[in-house]
Amino acid sequence: MQYHFDQIVDRSANHSAKYDERKKKFGTENVIPLWVADMDFKTAQPIIDALTARAQEGIWGYTSRPDSYFEAIRAWQMRRNGWSIDPALMSFSLGVVQSIGAVIKLFTPEGGNVLIQTPVYSEFYEMTEAANRRVLENRLVERNGKWTVDFEDFEEKLRQADLFLLCSPHNPLGIVWTPEELRRMAELCMKYHVALFSDEIHSDLIFHGKKHTPMASLSPGIAGYVITGISGTKTFNLAGLQASTVVFPNRHTKKVFDSFWQRMDIQRNNAFSLTAMEAAFTHGEEWLEQLLPYISGNFDFVVDYCERHIPKIKTYAPDATYLMWLDCRGLGLNNGELHDFMIQKAGLGLNDGCSFGRSLSGYMRLNAACPRSVLEKAMGQLEAAVNAL
Ligand SMILES: Cc1ncc(COP(=O)(O)O)c(C=O)c1O
Repeated sequence: MQYHFDQIVDRSANHSAKYDERKKKFGTENVIPLWVADMDFKTAQPIIDALTARAQEGIWGYTSRPDSYFEAIRAWQMRRNGWSIDPALMSFSLGVVQSIGAVIKLFTPEGGNVLIQTPVYSEFYEMTEAANRRVLENRLVERNGKWTVDFEDFEEKLRQADLFLLCSPHNPLGIVWTPEELRRMAELCMKYHVALFSDEIHSDLIFHGKKHTPMASLSPGIAGYVITGISGTKTFNLAGLQASTVVFPNRHTKKVFDSFWQRMDIQRNNAFSLTAMEAAFTHGEEWLEQLLPYISGNFDFVVDYCERHIPKIKTYAPDATYLMWLDCRGLGLNNGELHDFMIQKAGLGLNDGCSFGRSLSGYMRLNAACPRSVLEKAMGQLEAAVNAL
């Protein structure tokens, strides 16, 4: 089947946070929403068909999870990433962020320290602080537009850390970590007895011939150490269904996690997430293979547009995710001014770079998972606003 990602899908009656929460987030509805990480594309037809059939059943009572559910996820990881997961070590979780929240509470002491590599997905800060733990920052270092890990600082910070939250691949920088980098991070965590959670939610959105390496696939020793969060919600644009998977290093860790959620009776999929995820991981590949080049084309469009028409804003095509990191330092605005400029002058709803790295100034994040014509309009508005500065 041929998909048409150029098609504009009207989300005005979709109860979409990305659209409906513009007023709350930006103070106005008059911005093109290129912020929260979901896509403006319809999902794969087999998922729509499976959910339609489920809706037609007319009964959505308490839902049991057949073995085929985790089997579909296991087979997907094996096929796409060569990662062999023991289904006995998989658990359901509402979301990767919920898993992070639970891991922080369960595997670090009250007042403990959580190491993150900034700039990084803002919930890494927020979940840590919400649990009364302290954030330790291993700041990623930018050299000629390429971001890398300062391993000396990483090791130094690990001496005080209780947990390391890894974002792999990395949001917002779009880095696909190499096996060598991952191994080095894991081995250092093991050396200093620091728990390790690998957030791999973006692992199906990979470009430029790169390959995602699941942290747990590196060696049996690392598989026996790391907790991994995976999900189909980013890949197939299903975030509103709230379902993800956690892969544990051993039965004991799984039991600690599962009992935490059981105490709140959170253990079942809802009727629709069950159907959607199984359909996605079984029949969604054709759609994904058409989506990836479209998104890659969007990246190239934005990069080319900035180079030609807005040279004060520097960006690059990320190797992963559908999120672009804009270096707006050339505009000479502080964070508050940049925030207001994007909303009021450019009419764009972006994420502030300083929400991902609190010490940073002059960056924004743009969600490029929308029809190209939306990006064309957005870039035109941005160019006009920059020219008028
Ligand atoms: C790195 C990362 N982790 C987790 C999430 C959200 O996960 P969930 O919706 O499963 O809680 C996002 C969403 O943007 C993300 O970028």
